[in-house]
Amino acid sequence: MLASAGFFFCVWRLIFAAGTRTISIDPPIPRGDATMATAPKLINAFTTPFFEAHLENAGTLNDELRTLFIEREQQGDKYRNPYMTPGKVGLFESDFDLFRWTEQPVQKLRSFCMDTIGHVIASLNGYDRGELARLEIINHTWFHITRKGGYTTYHNHPMASWSGVYCVDPGDAADDSSDSGILRFLDPRGMGNMFLDAGNSRLQQPFRVASLNFRLTPGRFIVFPSYLFHEVAPYQGAGTRITVAINSWVRERSATPDGQAR
Ligand SMILES: [Fe+2]
Repeated sequence: MLASAGFFFCVWRLIFAAGTRTISIDPPIPRGDATMATAPKLINAFTTPFFEAHLENAGTLNDELRTLFIEREQQGDKYRNPYMTPGKVGLFESDFDLFRWTEQPVQKLRSFCMDTIGHVIASLNGYDRGELARLEIINHTWFHITRKGGYTTYHNHPMASWSGVYCVDPGDAADDSSDSGILRFLDPRGMGNMFLDAGNSRLQQPFRVASLNFRLTPGRFIVFPSYLFHEVAPYQGAGTRITVAINSWVRERSATPDGQAR
């Protein structure tokens, strides 16, 4: 019994010492790879894919979309999302059927956006033409018109695989130090910065744990995994900030419709 108590006392002493003092007598000094016979192999895991596309010569199309969206906004509830979730302040959100509209500018945008998302899905999953032919991309799509002080708090998009944001009009140009209207993604590696010291505080990308910010420009289209939490920082411009948002998911073509196929 006494021997057993002594053993646990010693274990406790070791744990206590390790937890309260630096016990290494000869701490190693980082030497880089200059003295190493074989450099360790980097394994890059848990990568998060983002895609960026630009619609060429988007000026005329964006002008047409802006005119159309503001005209629809002025009709109030007719085109407003009746089930807008909390966390959206100072903005107009349309219903989710935007890509069902038959107006030519909307259909042009639909082609560009859904072709881009189709590329994302095909390339990352490695689908061949036969497999793609058996699939269809369903989407919910809407527009936002944001005015001075408007913002969207952090959220993600359950029940979708890929989401996207297309910029019709970023609003008034902000200087580079401002985060006005920034589209910000929160790093999903929640515990990745639980302990910071000189060993990890200067990690280079893609390993640094930090939010990822996009400053939108006309015609820029960002595609991202729908599970990522993101937000729009308060827009401080005097004009209108106009974006189109998309949620998409994929199913076999024979499935029962519950959304809009591309
Ligand atoms: Fe969103």
